[in-house]
Amino acid sequence: MTNAPTPEAMAATHAAAFAPSRPWRAEEFSDLLATPGCFATGDAACFALVRAIAGEAELLTIATHPEHRRQGRARACMGAWLAEAMSRGASRAFLEVAADNPAARALYRAMGFAETGRRPGYYPRPGRPAVDAVIMSCALPQGQRTET
Ligand SMILES: CC(C)(COP(=O)(O)OP(=O)(O)OC[C@H]1O[C@@H](n2cnc3c(N)ncnc32)[C@H](O)[C@@H]1OP(=O)(O)O)[C@@H](O)C(=O)NCCC(=O)NCCS
Repeated sequence: MTNAPTPEAMAATHAAAFAPSRPWRAEEFSDLLATPGCFATGDAACFALVRAIAGEAELLTIATHPEHRRQGRARACMGAWLAEAMSRGASRAFLEVAADNPAARALYRAMGFAETGRRPGYYPRPGRPAVDAVIMSCALPQGQRTET
């Protein structure tokens, strides 16, 4: 996890991972990374974008390029951002995932996240019913505030 991804690399991987959904542009990644508490972990093949602020960390997106799946990259990337969030003082992490995304839900469960809420019909699905957003969270027991 030493080759930090550029906004351009994140945009390319995001586009490949989430197709045919609208990809986030490189400028959108740059803009997010310039906001307070936002950071990325991973590399060009797999990255996570996270915001850690006020004792909480939120996973904004995570993507593994389709050519690099099932090699443990997302698991490693999750571990890296959770560790970074803890070092920034987060004591809780949360994320949102579509109910019809079994790969991501399995990944998050494997990393210790549990379902804590739902937003019914949150994600539109052309030609079929909208899908719930599942909110998942986990405690970061070693979280220590670095701010006073
Ligand atoms: C979800 C995603 C990030 C997983 O990336 P990955 O690098 O392939 O994941 P890993 O190899 O680290 O897998 C870790 C664990 O996640 C789970 N998992 C990953 N892909 C899975 C799949 N297709 N089906 C079931 N479980 C899966 C497994 O528990 C896996 O452990 P195992 O390989 O020992 O069984 C990837 O599939 C992806 O980019 N999907 C499209 C984008 C996306 O949905 N992002 C999340 C939005 S909330």
